[in-house]
Amino acid sequence: MGLQRYVFPFFLIIMSFFVSCYSNSIHEEVSVVLDHNHLVDEEEAFGYDSQAYPSYVSILEDNKFGDLINQTTDDNLPPSLKSFSKLLENKAAATWLNVNDFGAKGDGTDDTEAFGKAWEVACESKGAVVLEVPEKNYLLKPIRFSGPCRSLLLAVQIYGSIEASDDVADYGKDRRYWLMFDHVQNLLVQGGGTINGNGKIWWQNSCKINKTLPCTKAPTAITFCNCKNLVVKDLKVQDAQKMHISFQKCRNVEASNLIVTAPETSPNTDGIHVTNTQNIHMSNSVIGTGDDCISIVSGSKKVEATDITCGPGHGISIGSLGAGNSKAYVSDVTINGAKLSGTKNGVRIKTWQGGSGSASNIKFQNIEMDNVVNPIIIDQYYCDQDKPCKEQDSAVQVENVVYENIRGTSASKEAIKLDCSKNFPCERIILEDIDIKLERDEASKALCNNVQYLTEIGDVYPHCS
Ligand SMILES: *[C@@H]1O[C@H](CO)[C@@H](O)[C@H](O)[C@H]1NC(C)=O
Ligand SMILES: *[C@@H]1O[C@H](CO)[C@@H](O)[C@H](O)[C@H]1NC(C)=O
Repeated sequence: MGLQRYVFPFFLIIMSFFVSCYSNSIHEEVSVVLDHNHLVDEEEAFGYDSQAYPSYVSILEDNKFGDLINQTTDDNLPPSLKSFSKLLENKAAATWLNVNDFGAKGDGTDDTEAFGKAWEVACESKGAVVLEVPEKNYLLKPIRFSGPCRSLLLAVQIYGSIEASDDVADYGKDRRYWLMFDHVQNLLVQGGGTINGNGKIWWQNSCKINKTLPCTKAPTAITFCNCKNLVVKDLKVQDAQKMHISFQKCRNVEASNLIVTAPETSPNTDGIHVTNTQNIHMSNSVIGTGDDCISIVSGSKKVEATDITCGPGHGISIGSLGAGNSKAYVSDVTINGAKLSGTKNGVRIKTWQGGSGSASNIKFQNIEMDNVVNPIIIDQYYCDQDKPCKEQDSAVQVENVVYENIRGTSASKEAIKLDCSKNFPCERIILEDIDIKLERDEASKALCNNVQYLTEIGDVYPHCS
């Protein structure tokens, strides 16, 4: 424990308070680099004042990061969150708040101010706090639920529905967020209710839909930014303006029992987006939208998804990575148990030319494909822009990728497409027990470019030729 260990956390505390989730992209890049180089330090710097909250926090701090991960995969909840759920069972021990007591009406008039006041009180309350959103339909403009909070545990129970304002002017200049939870620790968002982004107006005005319009930003429906120890479960999220749920710079996240829906034609409406987030487990969710089912991008590590049903949409993606010559790192990703139906891709890794960094230690296993256009795809020549992308020398290194027990049907001839970089070939790719044919049992093909150390185990069809 040298001096540096103390200096860095201090610096990062400063960073994490002043680099808000609303900062511009240059600051975002800076924090990405810091995140990557000093993961452990930041993890510690992220902490709260343990003197102030002795009992529950000590449970957390006694567990080093690695223990948390093991226990997360064991029984789905980080230990701290399990004890918080127990705390909620004792009704009398918690402070119960209701948005209606702060003036929310749920009658189609604007409830933003009432939710803001309710949040302030909840966040300032000590101990366990439950903020209830009853079974009505609440209308909200963009709103930020900011921490750090004094509460040990904050549970937002959404029983009713929360609907977004569809007046574009309400979103101000920034436009990137509708509901934002920022710097909150030990947070549960649950309750069986619905979050509706009311996104039609945004889709119509998207340059991807109407080519005569300029490309502008659109809001993500729910963003969790800089949150630690977070459970999001039992919710329906629908018709987001752009992405539905985004985890950004979060640690220790459990997301489960989510139903995410938007029309197949809605642009950029990713289901769950994971960026700069570590130790996240997503499970038991059904996602059908106009874009990626789950997208996992730079700075993400120890990401697990189990029992996910996707379709329609673009499938499960790692990337895109390396846009604009950026450095990107994603590692330790496991997608175990997924069913994809009628999607444009199945399991995809996509990187732009000119990027650097790596996508490594990735496992796709126990996956069923039903009429998927590109069931298994690595695309290192990804180019999502009007102009063709020019050839560049560098690339994000793709390595240690396992595809295991993947079966079903492809909607295109090429069921396996590993299109790796000429200068940075993919390394150590394992195909094990693969069986993907066309409908009616017709033969499919595999295209494998620039793959080094490809191993096939068990029965693999189609073969790389
Ligand atoms: C996590 O689990 C693995 C496999 O069970 C074990 O080898 C490893 O030591 C565990 N790590 C910790 C930190 O307990
Ligand atoms: C596209 O946008 C232009 C400019 O606002 C508008 O005039 C046109 O009707 C739009 N087209 C469609 C198909 O909505």
